[in-house]
Parts: sequence; structure tokens; C-alpha cells
Amino acid sequence: MKITVVGTGYVGLVTGACLAEMGNHVVCLDLDARKIEILNNGGIPIHEPGLLEVVQRNAKGGRLEFTTDVDAAVAHGTVQFIAVGTPPDEDGSADLKYVLAAARAIGERMTDYKVIVDKSTVPVGTADKVHAAVAEALAARGETMEFSVVSNPEFLKEGAAVEDFMRPDRIIVGAEDERAILLMRSIYAPFVRNRDRLLVMDLRSAEFTKYAANAMLATRISFMNELSRLAERVGADIEWVRQGIGSDPRIGTHFLYPGAGYGGSCFPKDVKALVRSGAEVGLNLGVLEAVEAANERQKQVLVEKVVARFGADLSGRRFAMWGLAFKPGTDDMREAPSRVIVADLIARGAEVVAYDPVAMEEAQRVMPGQAGLRYAASAPETLPGADALLIVTEWKEFRSPDFDAIRAQLKQPLVFDGRNLFEPIDMAQLGIEYHAIGRPA
Ligand code: UGA
Repeated sequence: MKITVVGTGYVGLVTGACLAEMGNHVVCLDLDARKIEILNNGGIPIHEPGLLEVVQRNAKGGRLEFTTDVDAAVAHGTVQFIAVGTPPDEDGSADLKYVLAAARAIGERMTDYKVIVDKSTVPVGTADKVHAAVAEALAARGETMEFSVVSNPEFLKEGAAVEDFMRPDRIIVGAEDERAILLMRSIYAPFVRNRDRLLVMDLRSAEFTKYAANAMLATRISFMNELSRLAERVGADIEWVRQGIGSDPRIGTHFLYPGAGYGGSCFPKDVKALVRSGAEVGLNLGVLEAVEAANERQKQVLVEKVVARFGADLSGRRFAMWGLAFKPGTDDMREAPSRVIVADLIARGAEVVAYDPVAMEEAQRVMPGQAGLRYAASAPETLPGADALLIVTEWKEFRSPDFDAIRAQLKQPLVFDGRNLFEPIDMAQLGIEYHAIGRPA
């Protein structure tokens, strides 16, 4: 099938590449010439395991093309996926200007039937706005033409994006006419051998499902983070509690890991947007408000522990920091807890020497010229002379570190672990003072 994907961000690029992998002929459009140039030179503008290979293979096979040419892109696909950004407005609601601009661009140029698919995370009711934008653009040309609007939210996780797209738990298709439903079924048939994994529903429910899923996951994390604080104070170990409750199939084991707070481009934005949607119709979504507030608090938890140990004034102190990305497997720094932690430590007079396997360049971009922050070329090189080590992102390479080096090179053997990588008892045996999340010190 001929498919166009508008937007080559995380979702757009993965969607385009994986659809090409199944034999479709995909054209990816982006107005950012820099991104298209990188892609046309055989690279990818983001860090995502496995994606480069899929992109290169399909580009070479002639099934995947990249362009800044809007006319050509609109002319190409019978199905047009819109996968552009929906950044939060000042009030937290999703800004639809890029989505609607894409819709208009399609309406201004289409010459035959198109299915226009919202892949971006968009609030309930956006499909109607997309429909109106396309219809208006057609009317402005004095045209009437058949087209369908479909909602097809994406559930991939950064760091596991290709795997998630190729083997989805479910595919949600919000569509209200048979022609579009048939086309969407045929696009996704190769991805869902189990047909019941493709759920076709009305447009608004599909749009809502995306927010509901992210809000539910964020809620679980904030809930566990709050319980971890209680566990510390009453002398329980949240890691036992996590396993104890997760073995109940009604609860399940996923997304129960307490930590230094959730970040990324999705949970913070989507929780805020849902709260905002509630407010717009006069509903106070108190649970979700609390989820967000708990997360803001949780981003401070490591610094609180540092302050409890060293006092509020950290001038003259230096901290080694392992991990900057909001989670492993990505260079994404959006809403990363590390940013709050770095800013807070530096505001208290400390110096930070940080290392991240892939996110340091991105960190420099989002925290430009941050005085008091230095980067090291490896995890061990952050250690010499530091007062303590802070672990902020659970990269695999941090899981079996050289504990002798940690002991020998820090001023004192002291680790604050925001991701619970180690067992307190092992650390005690190693002679390392260990402060984790929700675990006995
Ligand atoms: C999330 C969802 O998991 C995807 O299903 C969704 O498609 C995506 O948002 C999106 O809306 O685009 P992502 O933001 O890539 O994916 O990353 P997650 O793996 O969900 O992690 C989000 C944050 O939660 C990270 O900061 C992570 O450290 C934190 N987290 C996750 C925890 O603190 N504890 C957990 O148990 C799990």
C-alpha cells in the first residue's frame, strides 16, 4: 500500500520504517530539512535501538523515502498518517497547531480519496477538528471529495519502539466508516496475527484510550513512589512490597518500580492534558492532579536524601551522577528527573560531574552553559574526589559497577540510588553506605 507519514519524530519515523518493513511503500514528510537530510544520508536524527537498521534496509529497498516536498508527499499515500508533535500549551492542553496544519496541507492538495490518520496523541474531539480542517481546505478550492479521518494512537515506548511497533499488545483504531476500517485492517493485519488485538471503536473512545493508558501507568508509578516514602518511614522494604502486590494478576508486575520520578515526553504531558480536559468540562480530576504533584515531589527525593545526609548547604561538595536521560535506551532529556536534580544540587552550591552513555550531547543542549555541571567520558571517571554517587537512570552498564573503585575513589563510600539497582544488604557487606528508594538504609 502507498502510505505517507507526516512528521519524522519518534512516532512518525518508527511508524514509517515499520510499515515499510512489512512491504508498504512509505514516504515520510518533514518540514525540518535538517532531519530529512540526516535520513537521506542514511542516518537517523534520534537514538533508538534497532531503528537505524530498519530505516536503512527499507530505504535501500526503495520502500522508504524521506522528503520535505509537501505536494509529493500528499500525492503519494492513500493513507496519510499525521505524527507531528502536540506540545503542551501554557495551560497544559495539547497544542494542535501542527496537527491541524498537516490536515489543511492534505486538504489543499488531495485529488482523490484519502484516509487521514491521527497518530499523534491528541485530545478527544481532535478527529472532528481534523475533519473540519480538511473539509474547509477542500471547500476553499471549490472541491468536494470523499475522505475519512481515523484515530490510531501509538503505544510504543522509547528505547523499545521498534519491538513495540512490530509486536503490539493491541492496536486501537477509531473509525466510523467501513472503507477506512477495511484499509486500516489491511495495513495492520501483518502486525496482529491475533485478530482480537486490533480493536475498532468510535473515534472519541480511541482518542481517549491513549490518554487513559498513559494516565493509568503514571498513576501506578506515582502510587508506588508515594508508598516508597511511607515504607522508608515505617521500616518496610518497597521492593518486597512491589513483588508482593505484583504477583496478584489483578495488579500485575509492570510499571510498579519506584524511582526518582517519571519523565519523558508523554506521561507528564498527557496527565496534564487530561486534567485540563476535565477542567474544560467542569470536572476536577483530583486523582490525576495528585499523580502529577506526587511526581514533582518525587523528582526531589534524591536531593532530599542528600540534604538529610549533608545539610542544606552543599557548597564545596561534588557529586558524581550516573544517568541523565529520562530512562535507559534513549537520549531523550524531556522532563528528565536529572534536570531537576542537577539544578537543585547546583543551586545549593554543589558541583556535579555527570555521565550518561548516550544523552550527554542532548543534556548539553537542554542545559546549556550550566555552571557547576561537568561531563565525564565514562562512569568511573565521575568518581574521583566526589562526596557521593547519585544514580539517576538505570542503564545496564551501571548494574555491575566496580564497587572497589566506588569505595576507593569517592571521598567516602556513599551511594544514593534513585533506581534501586542494588541490594542494601550487599552494599552493607561491601562497606558502602547506600540510600535507595523505599528501602531500609
Ligand atoms: C510511555 C508509555 O509507556 C508508552 O506506552 C506510550 O506510547 C508513550 O509513553 C507515549 O505516549 O508516547 P515512554 O514515555 O517512552 O512511554 O517511557 P516509559 O517506559 O513508559 O517510561 C516513562 C517514565 O516512567 C520513565 O521516566 C521511567 O523511568 C518511569 N517509570 C516507568 C518508573 O518510574 N517506574 C516504572 O515502573 C516504569
